Amino acid sequence: MLALLTRLPRDRAELWLHELEAALDGEPILLGPPHRPLGAAERGAVDILLVANPEPGGWADWPGVRLIQSLWAGVDGLLADSTLPDLPIARLVDPALAAAMAETVATHVLALHRRLPLYRLQQSTRLWRQWPQPAARDRRVGILGLGEMGRAAARLLLQLGFAVAGWSRGGAALEGVATHAGPDGLAPLLQRSEILVNLLPLTEATRGILNARTFALLPEGASIVNLGRGPHLVVPDLLAALGSGHLDHAVLDVFDQEPLPLESPLWHHPKLTILPHVAAVTDPRAAAALVAANVRAFREGHPLTGLVSRAGGY
Ligand SMILES: NC(=O)c1ccc[n+]([C@@H]2O[C@H](COP(=O)([O-])OP(=O)(O)OC[C@H]3O[C@@H](n4cnc5c(N)ncnc54)[C@H](OP(=O)(O)O)[C@@H]3O)[C@@H](O)[C@H]2O)c1
Repeated sequence: MLALLTRLPRDRAELWLHELEAALDGEPILLGPPHRPLGAAERGAVDILLVANPEPGGWADWPGVRLIQSLWAGVDGLLADSTLPDLPIARLVDPALAAAMAETVATHVLALHRRLPLYRLQQSTRLWRQWPQPAARDRRVGILGLGEMGRAAARLLLQLGFAVAGWSRGGAALEGVATHAGPDGLAPLLQRSEILVNLLPLTEATRGILNARTFALLPEGASIVNLGRGPHLVVPDLLAALGSGHLDHAVLDVFDQEPLPLESPLWHHPKLTILPHVAAVTDPRAAAALVAANVRAFREGHPLTGLVSRAGGY
């Protein structure tokens, strides 16, 4: 038996439930707390929990569970729950999500490469001033994280002609991309990145990775694009680097607190582009089909897609 645990609003939770049941050929799925409190008998029959931002704690209420399947690609919120049981956890691996992320990366890298934020500022003061425009092949873009998202982004940037480098833990090769690995590989990646795109998962090793030290290693006038998670970025360090002119612009899609509070000074900063966490939004229908495939694989004893490493934190 399956149950869905989510703190999404009721209408969104029911949409997911509908898509998941359809993808599982009409198999009924229980909607659990906080939307519906379930009795002990119902909870005891559940062997797979489907989760999307579930309430923390309460895992002991589900004694029969053998798999936790996330409906999201990022599982940092789930893994932050110290009471999470030692069970297999799978996250969503969705090629459509990676394609959407690649589009987003290409959009912002092209905009920064073609100086769109600067020309927009000039427009606001009716300033007609042309700046030198390097070719894409001379624009060095660095990607932090070469996983599902980072690889798709790197491939699209290569097609657009950019000089692309990437950083990962293991340093797996990617054709056409200069790859750097591990803590020692970070500085060389930063030193050559005029546009730095963050697509890392949030773990204890990556929290706060966009900080004064990393910014200092970037070339003068570099820009950053944070599409990972809010806590990757040390906001005061970014504001200082933008204020000194060392960094030129930052595109931020993710924040410590979402929605970004109305009173946040980030909203009005002329060197910031603020987006409401839209870099790659999960499509419930497409995701439900992938989740259903993983549920079937689990039941048939086949390997699962997107198994999370608890030790690695992603
Ligand atoms: N803004 C949005 O709308 C949105 C949407 C979806 C996802 N995201 C974010 O994107 C993140 C990445 O997603 P994904 O599916 O690409 O994840 P993934 O497939 O797990 O890839 C993670 C990548 O980061 C690397 N990495 C992890 N820890 C590292 C470390 N300490 N040092 C160096 N490299 C490290 C991994 O290296 P290895 O390859 O060596 O393992 C891998 O290349 C998600 O966790 C989520 O936070 C954001």
